[in-house]
Amino acid sequence: MKVKYHSASKSGVRLAAVALHLLLVGAAVWAWSGPAAPQNVPKRWHPRRTPAGTEFVGDQTCAQCHKQTAAAHAGTSMANAMEPVANSKVLIDNPVMTFRSGPYTYEIRRQGDKSTYKVTDGSETVTLPVLYAFGQGKAGQTYVLEYEGAYYESLVSYYNEVKGLDFTIGAPRTVPESLQKAIGRKLSESDVNNCFGCHSTGGVVAGKLKLETMTPGIRCEACHGPGGAHAAAAQKKEPSGELIYNPRVLSGDQLAQDFCASCHRGNEEFGLLRSLELNNVRFQPYRMFHSKCYSDDRRISCTACHDPHEPIQKDMAFYDSKCAACHAPKKTAAGLKLKTAAAAAPQATAPPCKVATKDCVSCHMPKLGPPAAHFKFTDHFIRVVKPDEAYPN
Ligand code: HEC
Ligand code: HEC
Ligand code: HEC
Ligand code: HEC
Ligand code: HEC
Ligand code: HEC
Ligand code: HEC
Repeated sequence: MKVKYHSASKSGVRLAAVALHLLLVGAAVWAWSGPAAPQNVPKRWHPRRTPAGTEFVGDQTCAQCHKQTAAAHAGTSMANAMEPVANSKVLIDNPVMTFRSGPYTYEIRRQGDKSTYKVTDGSETVTLPVLYAFGQGKAGQTYVLEYEGAYYESLVSYYNEVKGLDFTIGAPRTVPESLQKAIGRKLSESDVNNCFGCHSTGGVVAGKLKLETMTPGIRCEACHGPGGAHAAAAQKKEPSGELIYNPRVLSGDQLAQDFCASCHRGNEEFGLLRSLELNNVRFQPYRMFHSKCYSDDRRISCTACHDPHEPIQKDMAFYDSKCAACHAPKKTAAGLKLKTAAAAAPQATAPPCKVATKDCVSCHMPKLGPPAAHFKFTDHFIRVVKPDEAYPN
């Protein structure tokens, strides 16, 4: 695929070219900047590969100067992708939750700023403290527990749609064979690293769980890499822009299928994700890859429609201009072509709609989901949806 760089600064193009070159020759994606710059500034930051020795300064430092960005970001689901039990809104608002499966009864109960997870078969009972609440509960929230020295994913999760508990997605729905199995899924070391890697910042360093350096949720440095050198230079009013990683240097395809996909999952995992059928609607980079709209173009990359620093836009009309960037009615497209420097960018060459002029996503990005998810995701496979079509996979 041809790589184009829009909106990237000159130095950005250089950085991206270096990063791409490293990818192509199969060398480590982690590289240090040249002799002029201080150590510790990654040329290519990969959200889920925090190398040994990385030190994060935390959002409070960023907020000293990037006040508005930090304030907006704090309210996003990503920033709250993991909640400490003490301030989990779901656990506070639902002080007692219960569920039954065969002979087993579940209860999640609030006591002060802690919550316990209790499973009983009537004769034996296990009561465990809830260690972490995963997800801020837009669709649901799952609990991580510790039992006999191992981490477990709770068998039951909270779902916003039912305002209560049901089986965790992917958990077996058959009656558990034992009380231990009824707790939930025992997590292997790599499961644990994956969970904490995708839902926290600094929780997994050099492939090892490091709870002492973890900040729950996807905070600034999860995406921008360590910001200490940048903050220190900016404080001294020295040039600081080159001392922090800005994903803006990435091409549209690198951003969607590599950067955001490191957690949201992309086409590289084609075989695995395809086998999940309707469940793969959760993996936006993967779904979008299969759309005719998709290319390396920045206008169809994740940040064209989502500002990662802002809560998601719910208003359908917001997205119309994003579609129109390519699907403009002919007259407008021609006008744009003449008037603006967008001449350097690829033209709005895609055809307009014959059916409607607004609310594009309501028809072309349908909301779908397996019943067990208790949530309808937005299918990022943009297409003409045929009545009664099988889920295109
Ligand atoms: C003391 C003030 C200060 C602090 C603290 C600070 N920044 Fe900045 N930041 C700036 C200034 C000023 C710029 C513009 C630099 C430039 O254009 O040369 C900037 C630019 C940036 C950029 C864009 C860089 C580029 O040129 O592409 C990013 C990304 C960024 N900051 C992220 C962060 C993060 C993340 C943190 C916390 C780890 C942080 N900043 C802390 C002042 C600060
Ligand atoms: C380190 C992992 C990670 C990376 C990198 C990441 N995300 Fe996320 N993102 C998450 C998690 C986890 C959630 C779910 C948060 C929740 O609901 O608890 C999420 C949720 C979202 C949401 C839904 C917000 C809502 O309110 O429903 C959007 C939109 C989003 N991410 C966009 C992006 C974009 C764009 C990028 C790339 C610039 C990106 N993400 C990179 C982990 C990540
Ligand atoms: C590959 C990265 C990745 C891994 C590994 C991962 N998650 Fe997530 N998780 C995400 C992303 C991205 C989202 C947002 C999109 C979605 O809802 O599927 C999410 C969403 C969630 C949600 C729904 C959040 C909400 O607000 O509705 C829960 C609950 C959750 N994850 C729990 C877990 C648990 C527990 C584990 C480990 C057993 C885990 N996740 C492992 C990336 C990941
Ligand atoms: C989920 C990933 C993600 C998180 C978390 C995140 N950013 Fe960013 N940030 C990005 C991306 C992607 C860009 C480049 C946007 C683009 O593609 O045009 C960016 C760009 C920026 C810029 C430069 C703006 C510009 O116009 O180039 C600043 C400053 C910045 N981020 C600050 C922050 C601060 C401060 C935080 C924490 C409060 C933060 N970011 C959290 C992904 C993230
Ligand atoms: C052309 C616009 C567009 C692009 C590009 C786009 N999205 Fe979305 N996305 C949407 C719309 C529309 C929604 C639904 C918003 C709503 O109604 O809450 C959405 C919702 C989401 C959600 C919330 C969960 C869901 O399924 O409703 C996540 C997470 C997300 N997008 C991630 C991404 C990622 C990652 C990328 C890059 C691969 C991306 N999006 C690219 C339009 C877009
Ligand atoms: C980067 C430019 C770009 C953006 C942004 C974009 N598209 Fe497209 N879209 C295309 C191209 C190119 C095609 C293929 C046209 C062709 O085959 O002639 C296409 C095809 C389509 C098709 C026909 C698909 C099919 O299966 O036949 C629909 C429907 C569509 N787009 C809707 C949308 C909607 C709705 C949005 C906004 C949510 C959008 N597009 C955003 C470039 C884009
Ligand atoms: C009420 C539902 C609906 C809305 C809203 C809608 N469309 Fe469509 N769109 C359709 C249908 C149905 C078709 C297939 C028409 C056909 O094949 O005769 C279509 C076709 C298309 C095509 C393929 C055109 C071609 O000639 O191949 C594109 C591109 C497209 N729509 C883009 C958009 C954009 C952009 C918007 C927002 C301005 C939008 N649509 C709003 C229902 C809708």
